[in-house]
Amino acid sequence: GSLAIDKRLFKQDIEGSIAHVEMLHRQKIINFKIKNKIVWALRRINNEIVKKKFVFDYELEDIHMNIENRLFELIGEDAGYVHTARSRNDQVITDLKLWLKVSTKKIIKLLNSTNSNLLNLADKNVKTIMPGFTHLKNAQPISLAHYLLAYVEMFSRDKKKFKNNIEFLNENPLGVGALAGTSFKIDRMFTTKKLKFVKPTENSIDTVSDRDFVLDFLYTSLACSIHISRFAEEMIIWNSDAFNLITLNDKIVTGSSIMPQKKNPDPLEYLRGKTGSFIGNINNMISILKGLPLSYFKDLQDDKEIVFKSYDQLKISISLLNVILKNLIINKKRMLILADLGYTTATDLSDYMVKELGYPFRKAYIVTAKMINIAEKKKKRIQELNIKELNKIEPNLNNDIYKILNLENSVRSKKSYGGTSFENIKKMIRNYKKEIK
Ligand code: ARG
Repeated sequence: GSLAIDKRLFKQDIEGSIAHVEMLHRQKIINFKIKNKIVWALRRINNEIVKKKFVFDYELEDIHMNIENRLFELIGEDAGYVHTARSRNDQVITDLKLWLKVSTKKIIKLLNSTNSNLLNLADKNVKTIMPGFTHLKNAQPISLAHYLLAYVEMFSRDKKKFKNNIEFLNENPLGVGALAGTSFKIDRMFTTKKLKFVKPTENSIDTVSDRDFVLDFLYTSLACSIHISRFAEEMIIWNSDAFNLITLNDKIVTGSSIMPQKKNPDPLEYLRGKTGSFIGNINNMISILKGLPLSYFKDLQDDKEIVFKSYDQLKISISLLNVILKNLIINKKRMLILADLGYTTATDLSDYMVKELGYPFRKAYIVTAKMINIAEKKKKRIQELNIKELNKIEPNLNNDIYKILNLENSVRSKKSYGGTSFENIKKMIRNYKKEIK
């Protein structure tokens, strides 16, 4: 049986059954007395489970059979009316959709704290200059805040995807029966309202076969986990002795069992590796669904185990990320030193020649490259060459170029929409903060 896994759905299962019998009564399919008896007993069962007084019988297939069985113990034969015009096929998807809706909202909340942690850190680091990388080689100076806001964008997209998933979770499966609908005069609008769905599903066969809403959840969780793993990997690199751009608070590092000096970034490695599980989970579900005929087959039962695993893992991952974000120490000095290595403002010098001397960009690029070659040979930065040396390569340059080569000026100048200028960043932080509220 699947009880060990689907017992997590007990609350939704009882909620669904109560809505169902209330509907049956309104439609005069069962009488008032029986309806009340069943509702009373279902509430009692709910209590028993919450208070851990419920005795689960693992001989019975699943949570639905356990609850139905207890219903019989409590009220006798009348319990049998609860399954009028209902199948476990529509029952279980109703439960799962209700559960996923609540759980999706919890994930969105957690992602909100992630973004607010990132924004707090960004706020303190608008003027923290670091090397922006391409190919993991120093490319151009950027603000650390701008880098952090890149992750705010990613997690905002994840939030939006989770929110969008709710549209399909709002279609009520209850009342489609085993696959064909029912001959009873049920009212699916009533249960839709009662259970806070938005509309009933349209096709009874599709309803019991469809697990697209499961795939949506698994994919969205995977996308989110990929973002987390990319962040984790970058922090591992930054935390390495070679980069030394950040330090992790002692609270979140672990020691080595043999090397006394070690402070390892285990939580980050955990997050980087965890993505493997999300890839496994979605692979698991698509393998079940591929080529599966309509409508219900036992193959589908595994959907819940996969969903619960993904949810638990994502919840842990985001929560852990939130702790890490509060325990990052930024090595600002080191960031600045590293940003100044590798001729990161060379592009600014080329741009200057285009703007001031009217050169085509490619010509300016070649002139700059020549300067870098000379500087490299002399083991100097371009700024450390004097104007005479530079004029040998390009006679039209004057002392203004030293300002152009300055890191802070370089960052400040990237005022194009979405660029790393301090101005842009401050505006973006303000915008995100408004969104989160
Ligand atoms: N535990 C089952 C599942 O999750 C409930 C549905 C059973 N339906 C059936 N026709 N056996 O899939």
